[in-house]
Amino acid sequence: MAMQRKAHWETIFKEKAADSVSWYQVHLAHSLRLIERSGVGKDGAIIDVGAGTSTLVDDLLAQGYRNVTALDISAGALQVSRDRLGPQAGKVNWLEADILDTNLPVEGYEVWHDRAVFHFLTNPAERQRYVKTATAALRAGGSLIIATFAADGPEQCSGLLTVRYTPEGLSAEFGAAFRLVECVAEAHQTPWQSVQNFVYCRLQRPVS
Ligand SMILES: C[S@@+](CC[C@H](N)C(=O)[O-])C[C@H]1O[C@@H](n2cnc3c(N)ncnc32)[C@H](O)[C@@H]1O
Repeated sequence: MAMQRKAHWETIFKEKAADSVSWYQVHLAHSLRLIERSGVGKDGAIIDVGAGTSTLVDDLLAQGYRNVTALDISAGALQVSRDRLGPQAGKVNWLEADILDTNLPVEGYEVWHDRAVFHFLTNPAERQRYVKTATAALRAGGSLIIATFAADGPEQCSGLLTVRYTPEGLSAEFGAAFRLVECVAEAHQTPWQSVQNFVYCRLQRPVS
């Protein structure tokens, strides 16, 4: 299953240009705003889970964040981002890993960001594993920023089934270890001008 998942994503990024995938945005504006609103300092550790080829890392570096990790199951996707960043690429920690099968530093991050990865987890056991990993990796007081298809969003993406969420439903997946702080809806325009409804939520690990 894990190998199939990796093969699937490697093929996608080999066959499609970064700006011709349905989820492409020039800048991840909502993500950037929510990261800013988390209050993370410029030295705070931020991880982008399923970073793909998105420009979030570029924008975070440009804004002065100095501790940015980009994790993805696809080596090809990470290479596209490294090539785009050129000499700046050395400022990012690159992690080729399956988020369902990796060990991250315990309480290693202040911000966990995921746009359009969690919604591919249609199996409850996989969602539980994801939540366990995120909970262990985030510091108390840290923010989990997660963007998925909204309740009226698409039922599939890149040939894979998705789970669609209301803010309450998404928050419930992360349980009592997190507090829902804020949510924002987005009508995302694909490169071919169709609309996909997303929901972005920021949850916080309370300081006990
Ligand atoms: C729909 S794309 C979103 C990419 C990026 N977050 C964005 O908004 O442009 C999903 C990304 O998650 C990655 N991915 C899927 N399953 C993963 C997993 N189990 N572990 C790590 N990355 C995964 C894919 O390789 C792909 O880059």
